Amino acid sequence: MASGGFFAIGFRSIQIIQVRLRKPDYKPPFRKAKKIPREDAGYRVTDGNIAAIDFGTTSVSLAYTTKGDKKVSTLILDHEDKSTRVPNAFLLKKEDDGKMKVEDFGSIARKKFTSMKPGDHHTHVYFERIKMLMRREKVVDRDTVVESFSGEKFYLVEVIAFILQHLKNLLMDHFSRTTWPLKTTDFDWVITVPAIWDARGKRMMREAAYLAGLLTEYGGISRFTPVSHLSLPLPDEYNPDRLSLALEPESAALYSQEVVADQIESDPDTAIIQRPTDYMVIDAGGGTIDITAHIEVDGNIVVENIPTGNAWGGTQVNEAFSKILEGIVNDPGFEKFLASGDRSQTNADIIKIFYTEFETGKLLFGKEQTEEICISFPNRFARFYNKALEAGVKRKSGIDYEDDVLYISKEVVESELFGPALKGMIECTLQAIEDNDTDLSTFYLVGGFGGCSYVHKKVKAAIEESFHGQGRSCHVIVPPTPQLAVATGAAMWRKNPEKIKARRSDATYGINVSIPFEDDEHDEYYKFYNEEQEEYKCSSVFDVFLEKGELVEADQVITTSLTPAYQSDKRIQISIYSTLNLGVQYIKDKDGESTVTKIGQIVIDIPNPDNLPREKRLVDVTMDFSGTEIQAKAKYRVTGEEVKTVCDFLSAQQT
Ligand SMILES: Nc1ncnc2c1ncn2[C@@H]1O[C@H](COP(=O)(O)OP(=O)(O)OP(=O)(O)O)[C@@H](O)[C@H]1O
Ligand SMILES: [Mg+2]
Repeated sequence: MASGGFFAIGFRSIQIIQVRLRKPDYKPPFRKAKKIPREDAGYRVTDGNIAAIDFGTTSVSLAYTTKGDKKVSTLILDHEDKSTRVPNAFLLKKEDDGKMKVEDFGSIARKKFTSMKPGDHHTHVYFERIKMLMRREKVVDRDTVVESFSGEKFYLVEVIAFILQHLKNLLMDHFSRTTWPLKTTDFDWVITVPAIWDARGKRMMREAAYLAGLLTEYGGISRFTPVSHLSLPLPDEYNPDRLSLALEPESAALYSQEVVADQIESDPDTAIIQRPTDYMVIDAGGGTIDITAHIEVDGNIVVENIPTGNAWGGTQVNEAFSKILEGIVNDPGFEKFLASGDRSQTNADIIKIFYTEFETGKLLFGKEQTEEICISFPNRFARFYNKALEAGVKRKSGIDYEDDVLYISKEVVESELFGPALKGMIECTLQAIEDNDTDLSTFYLVGGFGGCSYVHKKVKAAIEESFHGQGRSCHVIVPPTPQLAVATGAAMWRKNPEKIKARRSDATYGINVSIPFEDDEHDEYYKFYNEEQEEYKCSSVFDVFLEKGELVEADQVITTSLTPAYQSDKRIQISIYSTLNLGVQYIKDKDGESTVTKIGQIVIDIPNPDNLPREKRLVDVTMDFSGTEIQAKAKYRVTGEEVKTVCDFLSAQQT
């Protein structure tokens, strides 16, 4: 544990970890903005009606609570099996007038799509696991296009909007039958996002919610915009403060701590632990592993770690099986099979194999109810690859094939299917433990993948081994209904978001400024002469608001002041940048390449009717990192005009 100094929050001393993240060649920023107390309120105070959507990679849930209600409920989304967590799969039907209607969702949508008559495919659009596209490393914006399973292209933000709208309709339908019917606008809405997503993915969710009409009594989405080279317009922002984005692991942590604490309280004598004050949560879902560590201070929470995680979720087990099967039939990506007939139909067979047949076996294995996995192949697939399958399994030990059924032995399931995903998950967890400064010993394992007994057993063993090696003990606990932890926790969080007192920044953020050139500090490459100011300046300076790892307290904002470069300037454009690195001093390198990513901009008019001198025309730029979305605003002191925006702006602000 490298030391970088400490500071106090309440009675706890918190390590300044960004110091240890700095590399040996770290150079401090030339300019750093100041932290000042926040004046505006943070989140809207809720009336008590909260609806939270956990829009997961593989599954969705909706949790809600109403005014005066102490508990959070989850909405039944599949009335057949009374399930409150269903596959994130949607089947839309094209209507005659170009409108689209959600025909089914969840398992029923998948079932219908995979057994649909060929003639019905062209009137339907099917999507599943859409969130896989929105990983941190991928650039997602309002114009990102996705392909449905039949190969048609749509704007991703609109596809998500259809799904959110459908979930909203289900909740409204539920409430329309109650004694006190509630409307959409009676709710504060929450959508959960992985903490490891960057600002762009978060912004995409917010815009999808606007399009879905989640915050209004009217509007909503009924048709797709044809994909073209034109950008989609910025959606209307009605009631933006009625929507908040909750961080998935943080929500799961609130849930886990609350239900486990209740359990302990109800029977303290037999509980294996006392109520912990420091704990780490590992949310292992279908597409992401998301890790967070919380410490309690004076009844509030400090999020102790930088959001960490990776993409080794449960879907990787399905992917690993796909790779093995591709090898057996010797056809990468099953391209030959996919091209052998109507693409929707062949795609439907592939989904059936990996997300119905294999998934069923995988879940049973995960619950430790079976030792091997067997998969029945759809007829068309078995016929197409029959010879290849028979020959292929001979080359692969631990896998057999007989009468259209593939049998995978326990050894192969453990080492080749679950093995890589578990390795990715365990490595990330052990790293998070090593990076953590507190001596926490309680781990909550949640999410569908994390919550299954096989994964719990393996992860528990790995964490215990690392603890025992240091002569310490620990507890790795799966709370009840781990797959609902995120949705339920998100509704709990929204009741009192101020409970989170501080969070670590996931990246370094700042703006671009020009400052007086200092020969002994600045590089000649950036030097230019400002004739009006009769002074040499240094351009492209990264004025840092926040460094990665820095702790942002809920009641703080960060601010800096700028003046126009030239007296004739009537408008200032402030670009906001981020980088995952520390020690970046300039926004571009000496080859002119960007060293940072532009995440948004604010444009503010700066008229000067009284002809004030340039240095008196101050613009205060303030950024608020205390919530789950970054807010930025600029205020021109001369006129008092203020421009606000939320990062990431998927498109430049309208000017
Ligand atoms: N019994 C089980 N055994 C093995 N895996 C399981 C079991 N139950 C669920 N899973 C896996 O857990 C994953 C779904 O978990 P969850 O619903 O938490 O994910 P998600 O929230 O949709 O995804 P993410 O949080 O990554 O966006 C799937 O990959 C599923 O196969
Ligand atoms: Mg999840």
